Amino acid sequence: MGKMDIGMVGMAVMGSNLALNMADHGFDVACYNYTPDLTEKVLREHPHEHMHGFFDLREFVQSLKRPRRIMLLIMAGDPVDSMIDQLMPLLEEGDIILDGGNSFFEDTIRRQKKLADAGLHYFGVGISGGEKGARNGPCIMPGGDAATYEAVRPIYEAVAARAADGEPCCAYIGTDGAGHFVKMVHNGIEYADMQLIAEAYLLLKYAGGFTNERIAAAFRQWNQGELKSFLIGITADIFAEDDEDGGQVVDKILDSAGQKGTGRWTSIEALKRGVNTSLITAACNARVMSNLWDLRRGLGQRFAAVKAHEPLGDDFAEIVRKSLYVGKIAAYAQGFALYQAAASHYGWKLDFGRIAGIFRGGCIIQADFLERITEAFQSNAQLENLMEANFFAGKIQANLDSLREVVALGVKQGLPIPAMACAIEYIDSARAAHVGANLIQAQRDYFGAHTYNRVDKEGVFHHQWN
Ligand code: 6PG
Repeated sequence: MGKMDIGMVGMAVMGSNLALNMADHGFDVACYNYTPDLTEKVLREHPHEHMHGFFDLREFVQSLKRPRRIMLLIMAGDPVDSMIDQLMPLLEEGDIILDGGNSFFEDTIRRQKKLADAGLHYFGVGISGGEKGARNGPCIMPGGDAATYEAVRPIYEAVAARAADGEPCCAYIGTDGAGHFVKMVHNGIEYADMQLIAEAYLLLKYAGGFTNERIAAAFRQWNQGELKSFLIGITADIFAEDDEDGGQVVDKILDSAGQKGTGRWTSIEALKRGVNTSLITAACNARVMSNLWDLRRGLGQRFAAVKAHEPLGDDFAEIVRKSLYVGKIAAYAQGFALYQAAASHYGWKLDFGRIAGIFRGGCIIQADFLERITEAFQSNAQLENLMEANFFAGKIQANLDSLREVVALGVKQGLPIPAMACAIEYIDSARAAHVGANLIQAQRDYFGAHTYNRVDKEGVFHHQWN
């Protein structure tokens, strides 16, 4: 047996599917899992001439071509550090470890330094697309040393998804933690996108009186137009999925959402960088509120519930669609503003148009809409906010009244639609001549002599408030 092209540590869903994807492209993959059972299961269920099981870490490492390329698809956090510690004594100068999990980017920066000190290379590789993406073509966001990336590029470009124009949905993102950072914010945008869609559903169902069948039809239709995306497509499928006990599965699922934390990390990072990502934060908080099951039940009995309404016509669905589109623009504008702030803070040369370009395929937020983001950054690389790009400004202008109407309706009827509300508030704050900050400055100066600037004179002023 010749030497292996790449080693995959972690034979759970993501690792095994990505290994099979690599094997399908002719790469010999050494497979290892810290317990042998998963490796045995994968090889038994998916026998493949290019998949090779190893049950001893030293033999696994020694089976690899130099420089060794070892990909980790294991649980983020301590297991990654522990695996690095086990691998390091077995590796030789120039070998490469690639972490494909949802690791926190600061951990990636720390690990990269540690390996660099030992003459080894470390990559934080964002991977999106879930199980199917890993198997058939994910979106891949590698971060690490640019020159070393050439050693892994052929494998990643071969297995990545392809956009409609044939471009691989994989691009070198930047140094150290850049790949994992870009993946983290991708997930934050994913949270906002999903929350906006959930709010569109709430509006259609509870304000519009739409049945699941009508909701499925609306999403199916939306998926033919400017909202065309993976998430809208699966949402149409979900509303049409019958339950074996009658009705649709969606109505049998507990109204309480989980989260693993990448959206929360995005919000925390945005606060640190002074970037408003209110839609992402609203989406995190909406999941938190959804878990307050007892509180919701108790208060729901005390405060008037939303009244039932006569079913509204399809023109209502159109207003909701337009609102969703504007909400989506606001969410992506916030996510990309965070990319910009992070690029200058961490010294990453992020190519925003390219990032949107690789999101076009393989990942959870893949959407036609991303083409427009790439175009916006191509025509102006210094764009401060996506909302300033002519295309998006025009869309906001055309659809803002719909969003305003829908948010007002939701508020009137007591429907929680926080992401849409944040979208209108974000746009209003971004274009407002008056935001009341003069009063904030006066208060700060009053109680703390924090000083203020004036509209009519240059300089810094303090007033003797009485
Ligand atoms: C992806 C997903 C993936 C995963 C999220 C879900 O891009 O493939 O984002 O990373 O599904 O971890 O996150 P939550 O469990 O936090 O919703």
